[in-house]
Amino acid sequence: MADLAAPEIARWQHIEAQARNVLSRYGFSEVRTPILERLELFVRSLGDETDVVQKEMYQFEDRGGRKLALRPEGTAGVMRYVAARGQDAQDARLYYIGPMFRSERPQAGRRRQFHQLGAEAIGAAHPAADAEVIALQLHLLQSWGLSQCRVHINTRGLGTDRVNAQQQIRELLLAKRELLCVDCQRRLDTNVLRVLDCKNPECARIVSALPPLTSFMSAEARSYLDEVCRSLTALEVPFELRPNLVRGLDYYQHTVWEITHPALGAQDAIAGGGRYLLNIGGRAIEGVGFAIGLERSLVALAAERPESPPDRLPLVWFVAQGERAHEEGLRLLQSLRWRGIAAQMCVDRRSMKAQFRAADRAKAMFVVVRGDAELEKGIFLLKTLATGVQEELDLPSLMDRMKPLERGDAVLLR
Ligand code: HAM
Repeated sequence: MADLAAPEIARWQHIEAQARNVLSRYGFSEVRTPILERLELFVRSLGDETDVVQKEMYQFEDRGGRKLALRPEGTAGVMRYVAARGQDAQDARLYYIGPMFRSERPQAGRRRQFHQLGAEAIGAAHPAADAEVIALQLHLLQSWGLSQCRVHINTRGLGTDRVNAQQQIRELLLAKRELLCVDCQRRLDTNVLRVLDCKNPECARIVSALPPLTSFMSAEARSYLDEVCRSLTALEVPFELRPNLVRGLDYYQHTVWEITHPALGAQDAIAGGGRYLLNIGGRAIEGVGFAIGLERSLVALAAERPESPPDRLPLVWFVAQGERAHEEGLRLLQSLRWRGIAAQMCVDRRSMKAQFRAADRAKAMFVVVRGDAELEKGIFLLKTLATGVQEELDLPSLMDRMKPLERGDAVLLR
């Protein structure tokens, strides 16, 4: 688990702000659900045979003996919220940004606390809805500056398709049981579809010789996928069909997808999603959604866009000599801040030299000097540190020149 702070935090804030803007253009509003939920919610929603539930959840009992877990993903919590809202949440379009927890072995691309940006569109199955959500996800990634993402899609079909596919694939794989890795040998009995995306090279070789998942599915499931593909083409979203993509969570039915990025190495999924059906509190909730891994997005972004965005506003530093100038400084700083300008000074009355040093350390862009000489002349000295340019200004002209700034505005003064 990592601490997030300057300078990297600037990238986090940048992508989050960008994402909120894009999401609102698609009609999504934010939901913040608790980080802690009842264990039962995840076991039932994600599936008790999934790796996340079997191996990766942080779970414990509270003092009242309730079994709880730190959320390993966001969809289940959002669906609990939707179920509790009843009819009010029909057709809700919700998004979330926040930390998730999986107690995996840490390695490149895998953290125990990581962050997801997820979105869920509640509503009955319609292929165009799936395609629209994939288009939104790609839009988000592109708005951050990621141009090399690839969308891989497949279908898990409906419940009956899955049972059928599971049976047939199991039969085909039983003949090769001894060649599979230990995990996959267990999966043959518990969750055979997971064998299809095992990363073990020998398992992958065996899987590549299997017929595609769709060949075991009904015409309905296949035509749903065809319709999603047509809608994606209409939305100008490039994609590739990946016949063995299954995804690691059991709530999916029909469309599933993953988005990869070439900068990521072995853990190359930057994001994943799909259509799902969940039963919560006696209510069946259908929807389609996705989650983007933010740590992985930032790794990809650093590869595509090495220059980082500025992590703070351009700073004005006030340097004061003597009691009167010091008090003037405090007043001036406050009025600059109210105008939207970042301003600071050493409030502990240091020598002028020490104040200049502090301005340098803080990477101030401008220094406003009010020493004895300036007091006498009734002016302020404005220094632009990068250029060394100095100007003498009275208070009204100084205030006039200070404009509210955005991050990245290089020039304070016109
Ligand atoms: P997921 O594929 O389990 O899907 O996670 C989505 C993304 O979270 C992954 O593609 C990856 O970028 C990131 N991620 C997962 N585990 C880690 C980790 N240990 N360290 C760093 N990043 C990680 C879901 O969670 C579903 N809830 C997505 C969804 C929403 N499906 C429908 N709606």
